[in-house]
Amino acid sequence: MLSPLQAVSLLCLAQSALAVNFPFEQTTLSEADVKGNKDLAFGKLPVPAVNKARCKTYASDANWPSTDRWNAFNASLGGALLKGIPPAAACYEGPYYNPARCEQIRSIQGSTNFTKADPTIPNGQWQLGNPCPVPPIPNPGYSCNITAFPAYVVNVTTVKQIQLAVNFARNNNLRLTIKNTGHDFLGRNTGGGALQIWTHNLKQLEYIPSYKFGKYNGKAAKVTAALEQFELHQYMTQHNMTLVAPGSTTVGAYGGFMQGGGFSTMVTSKLGLMSDQVLSLEVVTADGRFVHADPWENADLFWAIRGGGPGNFGVVTSAIVKAHDTMPIAQGQVYFQTSPVTNPTTAPYNVQVNDTAFWKGIDIWFSWLPKVTSAKGVGWNYIDTIAPTANTSRTYQLRSQINLPGMTKPEAEAFLAPMIKELNDVGIPLKVYVDWYETYPKQAFRPQGPGESVTNGRFGSRLFPRKNLEDKTSPLFQKTIASIRAFVEEGGYNFHSVDYTPTTEIAGWPGSDSAVNPHLRNAIMHATGYDTNSYGPEVSPADQIKNHARLNEYVNKWRDASPGAGAYMNEADTEEPNFQWSFYGKNYDRLLEIKDKRDPWQVFYAVTMVGSERWFVEGTGGLPTQQGRLCRVQK
Ligand SMILES: Cc1cc2nc3c(=O)[nH]c(=O)nc-3n(C[C@H](O)[C@H](O)[C@H](O)COP(=O)(O)OP(=O)(O)OC[C@H]3O[C@@H](n4cnc5c(N)ncnc54)[C@H](O)[C@@H]3O)c2cc1C
Ligand SMILES: *[C@@H]1O[C@H](CO)[C@@H](O)[C@H](O)[C@H]1NC(C)=O
Ligand SMILES: *[C@@H]1O[C@H](CO)[C@@H](O)[C@H](O)[C@H]1NC(C)=O
Ligand SMILES: *[C@@H]1O[C@H](CO)[C@@H](O)[C@H](O)[C@H]1NC(C)=O
Ligand SMILES: *[C@@H]1O[C@H](CO)[C@@H](O)[C@H](O)[C@H]1NC(C)=O
Ligand SMILES: *[C@@H]1O[C@H](CO)[C@@H](O)[C@H](O)[C@H]1NC(C)=O
Ligand SMILES: *[C@@H]1O[C@H](CO)[C@@H](O)[C@H](O)[C@H]1NC(C)=O
Ligand SMILES: *[C@@H]1O[C@H](CO)[C@@H](O)[C@H](O)[C@H]1NC(C)=O
Repeated sequence: MLSPLQAVSLLCLAQSALAVNFPFEQTTLSEADVKGNKDLAFGKLPVPAVNKARCKTYASDANWPSTDRWNAFNASLGGALLKGIPPAAACYEGPYYNPARCEQIRSIQGSTNFTKADPTIPNGQWQLGNPCPVPPIPNPGYSCNITAFPAYVVNVTTVKQIQLAVNFARNNNLRLTIKNTGHDFLGRNTGGGALQIWTHNLKQLEYIPSYKFGKYNGKAAKVTAALEQFELHQYMTQHNMTLVAPGSTTVGAYGGFMQGGGFSTMVTSKLGLMSDQVLSLEVVTADGRFVHADPWENADLFWAIRGGGPGNFGVVTSAIVKAHDTMPIAQGQVYFQTSPVTNPTTAPYNVQVNDTAFWKGIDIWFSWLPKVTSAKGVGWNYIDTIAPTANTSRTYQLRSQINLPGMTKPEAEAFLAPMIKELNDVGIPLKVYVDWYETYPKQAFRPQGPGESVTNGRFGSRLFPRKNLEDKTSPLFQKTIASIRAFVEEGGYNFHSVDYTPTTEIAGWPGSDSAVNPHLRNAIMHATGYDTNSYGPEVSPADQIKNHARLNEYVNKWRDASPGAGAYMNEADTEEPNFQWSFYGKNYDRLLEIKDKRDPWQVFYAVTMVGSERWFVEGTGGLPTQQGRLCRVQK
């Protein structure tokens, strides 16, 4: 249905492409469809008693829907209901045993191609407590616990199926989870015993050459929830445009990435965050209704979903987003390391230095970030370290890129020359080295096609404010670098940061007025510390707790160097202290009001999302996971 305002905005672009909903969004649930059916009815107030129970209804509970009702639900979905059977169940004796399938899974389990195309499993298995690992050969007493996974999955291809799933979950007080690609690092995409909505098949893009909407006048695209980075790149090439996109090929662009803020490793200091691109949204809300949200209609929802946390205010089906002119990407490569350079690929922009020069170079590299982001560039780096052995001391390597969108190659070379000169002056004999690509998608061409490795480690992260790096001689700068150095040198961890400044000015209209973490607006560095220790099934809960505590001790040094700052919710620790302030800043209270108004049934839940402090997952032995029953914290 069109509101008057929406109708007016549609009229304005009648000559250009018409931004009407996709066909899959035109198949919706009506009152007539659900008439007299208590499982499928839309949400109503007051909140029914079933939604006030201490815990979400679990498979072992008496009021878990009967097989007949699941079957009827499946029929209403047109047969799109799947049982939540993890693929590795094929490796264990029982009803799903299938040695050939197990063998196949063993060979592909490390790829996101596999996990994104599976309805049940997330990328990281620790989030569910590794309840059904692919066992090594021979099988040394591993086990598969199917009840720890989502119980059922709706493989959605229409809005109607999403509405039915939301209604069925709410009316039966089931835990509801949403999986898109499954990339989430925190486990916000999965839950034991849940009914899961799997959006993976919602893939469409319509290019709108000219779109006038509110204060926006330019190119746009109507996009669906499940598009991945590599697909956006294909569309950018096809339509000669630039869209903000994630850094890795299979990350979903408009699911968790957009709703958590979402940065591009190339253009975010120039074009803003992913949530800044959104002009309007189509959403299934907690009451099961399908609504349009923009700055005038359902404005609270529109504000909250853009950066206020994924999967917590509704299920997004599509959006209209800004599209930009194509632009070149100039990419400065800066590497140096304390061990011999053996990789011929990096040799043109890599040198060996001693420890003293290495850390002087690190000071210089970080001191350049304010200049880089002021030039609308984005930096990224890894500081890798290798532990000392009997005969070698600890070694360090900086791998880094300075991405300068919109610059010609000579412009980028001129920009980087004084930085390289400073490095030369402390004994790092690098030359200016710039790769140049005509367009954003060309920069990410991968001959091997899309697909990343799945990861099972854990994170700590921090958004360092710009002021921390503005003056190389200040105690604040020195404390910041010392905290990074301690992380690598004493902690023995690898350091990674992506360095960008998506100010409210760059966000423009309507991006500047959104729920995105205010800490992002004046950030210069999103630092991440990844624990390469396994959180897999072979590590005891006690050791997992110990490893995590050690990582946290070193992340605390970053927190001490940036008092009052926050962290980026999509790449963060589920145990982030005071996550409300870190991930939402001053927006938290307003977001909680919107959450309670829009979802008084508390249908949507995800760890560290707004209102999640009222819930906990039962029965986890070590660090919190999403595997058990979801229950309310009793006051
Ligand atoms: C290899 C890799 C590279 C990454 N690179 C970047 C990067 O460059 N920049 C960056 O900012 N982040 C990056 N991330 C982090 C990324 O933003 C998060 O992992 C994000 O949660 C991925 O979203 P998804 O929809 O693909 O994943 P999922 O795990 O499927 O979903 C993530 C969350 O979004 C919710 N959700 C998904 N779809 C919907 C929907 N349609 N409606 C409502 N809720 C939904 C889910 O319930 C879940 O809470 C990267 C992650 C990985 C693993
Ligand atoms: C749902 O129905 C389809 C088609 O009838 C069937 O193939 C599928 O197994 C059913 N799902 C469940 C969980 O029973
Ligand atoms: C999900 O639905 C799509 C579209 O109907 C279908 O092609 C695909 O095979 C289904 N996936 C699974 C795992 O059933
Ligand atoms: C693509 O867009 C750019 C920037 O707007 C323009 O300069 C160029 O001519 C376009 N190329 C094609 C093939 O349309
Ligand atoms: C370390 O040095 C000792 C003495 O020079 C030598 O015997 C040993 O083989 C070396 N070890 C390694 C791993 O290189
Ligand atoms: C480290 O390298 C720099 C630059 O080449 C040099 O000036 C310095 O003397 C070296 N320091 C040590 C301890 O070797
Ligand atoms: C992932 O799938 C794509 C096809 O979509 C293919 O081109 C690519 O090679 C696959 N990657 C891996 C690592 O298997
Ligand atoms: C399986 O997982 C569930 C949920 O965490 C738990 O309650 C149950 O005890 C587990 N069963 C076994 C056999 O480990």
